[in-house]
Amino acid sequence: MTTRRKRTAILISGRGSNMRALIESARDPSYPAEIVLVLSNRPGAAGLGFAAENHIACAVIDHKIYAGRDEFERSLQVLLELHRIELICLAGFMRMLTPWFVGQWQGRLLNVHPALLPAYRGLNTHARALADGVKIHGCTVHFVVPAMDEGPIIAQAAVPVLDSDTPDSLAARVLAEEHVIYSAALASVAEGRLRVEGNRVYCGGPAALPAPLRVPFNG
Ligand code: GAR
Repeated sequence: MTTRRKRTAILISGRGSNMRALIESARDPSYPAEIVLVLSNRPGAAGLGFAAENHIACAVIDHKIYAGRDEFERSLQVLLELHRIELICLAGFMRMLTPWFVGQWQGRLLNVHPALLPAYRGLNTHARALADGVKIHGCTVHFVVPAMDEGPIIAQAAVPVLDSDTPDSLAARVLAEEHVIYSAALASVAEGRLRVEGNRVYCGGPAALPAPLRVPFNG
């Protein structure tokens, strides 16, 4: 049985590497989501070029020209409705969304964050993880709720922290994992495979038990 692919928008503010990974996954016609719209709140966002080259509708809704968050989000909402959007992926979208907007999209609004939530909400996650001396760091895809970097967790990936790591080298390894889990998480939401109870997201679990990540002696 073939089900219709879910019409998905990606909201960005900058580089857009997660956006690119989602667009690339969705090139496969069997992927259950179709990326039909990319919106940026910053006119110069680098990711817009890639979306346009890939013939995806793009728009800038510059938050600076609006009197406040409410007006900005109402414009966002109009465009999303115009494009009959069903799912939204925040991908480096650096604006807090109001409870009103989040409420419109409950269960259909995803975010990726460069840390193993609930650790390291907010900014500079890699430098903070290094300063704390953690041995395992990573990234999270979660449903958005009206609080920053909170909400039921759909997927996480862990990476070991190396002695030689700098914030940039750690960020690069985490980012590669973000790309993998974001595509997988969007697919599971688009297929309607998930069940959310409180903060827990049940997805049936992996077929085989993955190996634990032990640092420094994984083997
Ligand atoms: C990503 O690392 C993403 O996890 C982070 O911004 C970066 C955007 O990169 N998002 C957050 O910190 C949200 N709290 P990208 O534009 O290349 O996808």
